[in-house]
Amino acid sequence: MNTTAATLLDTTFKKQVFEGLSANPKYLSSKYFYDKKGDKLFQDIMAMPEYYLTGCEFQILSTHTETIGELFRDRKNGLDLIELGAGDGKKTKVLLKYMTENNFNFIYKPIDISENAVEMISNNLAKEMPTLNVDAEVGEYFEVLERLKGFNKRKKVIMVLGSNIGNLKHPKAIEFLSKLKDAMLPDDLLFMGFDQKKNPQNILDAYNDETGITEAFNKNVLTRINRELDGNFRIEKFKHWAVYDPETGTAKSFLVATEAMQVKVEAINLTVNFDEWETIHTEISQKYNDKIVSWLAKESGLKIETSFTDEKGYYKNYVFRKD
Ligand code: AVI
Repeated sequence: MNTTAATLLDTTFKKQVFEGLSANPKYLSSKYFYDKKGDKLFQDIMAMPEYYLTGCEFQILSTHTETIGELFRDRKNGLDLIELGAGDGKKTKVLLKYMTENNFNFIYKPIDISENAVEMISNNLAKEMPTLNVDAEVGEYFEVLERLKGFNKRKKVIMVLGSNIGNLKHPKAIEFLSKLKDAMLPDDLLFMGFDQKKNPQNILDAYNDETGITEAFNKNVLTRINRELDGNFRIEKFKHWAVYDPETGTAKSFLVATEAMQVKVEAINLTVNFDEWETIHTEISQKYNDKIVSWLAKESGLKIETSFTDEKGYYKNYVFRKD
């Protein structure tokens, strides 16, 4: 690549937008939904009645607080509680509260891809739980995994809530879990949420709300390209489309061009042609059952120690240990 091309694609965002919009079929990563506006939209999604995931996980953490907390406890040396993709921390607070009120010796290390989310959670916890020891960090999952290995002085518990793993296809999920396993010692635990297969209608509804919040969330990737990479997407010309395949358990989101058009993204010197009804695939949200999670664990060198579910069985939090 010559120097001009190299500076043109000098960030991962630029590079991935270039690759995704030049590909056939086109795609963009859902990780680019999350900026200040996207974080707010995702918070609104979590509050929607259709988006059952948050309520179910909140119920699990609230019902089993003591059992989960005591699984985490190390009376001798204490522990490091590391949360990947912490978001606004609303669900985690239930556990944090139990742990602070029951004399746990621990630090809480929230890590999120969004600078804005990390700032919000840090400020919020400083106000609401002033005695809690918080050490927040901005970073992408795969990037921070290496650094997790440094947390080896005492027990660590790694948490990934919200079925965030569902945004990775199985091979990537296995890569992610394997790397988590590599960063773990025999006493360490991994506590992770997995949205379960269920009536396909419930799943479809969760990604197709009538209010259009999910649509705005999906389209935020185009808004970002327009703003950050000097693009000229006419966002209203794209339609949000979500599907769910009950066989594979994969929900997929697309942006569909409602007419043929040409889009320019100046910062990466790219002209993109869309046919009428051409798609950009933007997200997968994988759904699971015990069989799939056991398979993922086995492939990654982890074993399931126990799991917790909500009263409808819509969602499950699994506790893994290194095998
Ligand atoms: C963050 N992630 C697990 C959410 C999900 O369900 O895949 C993101 C989301 N996309 C649309 N609605 C919510």
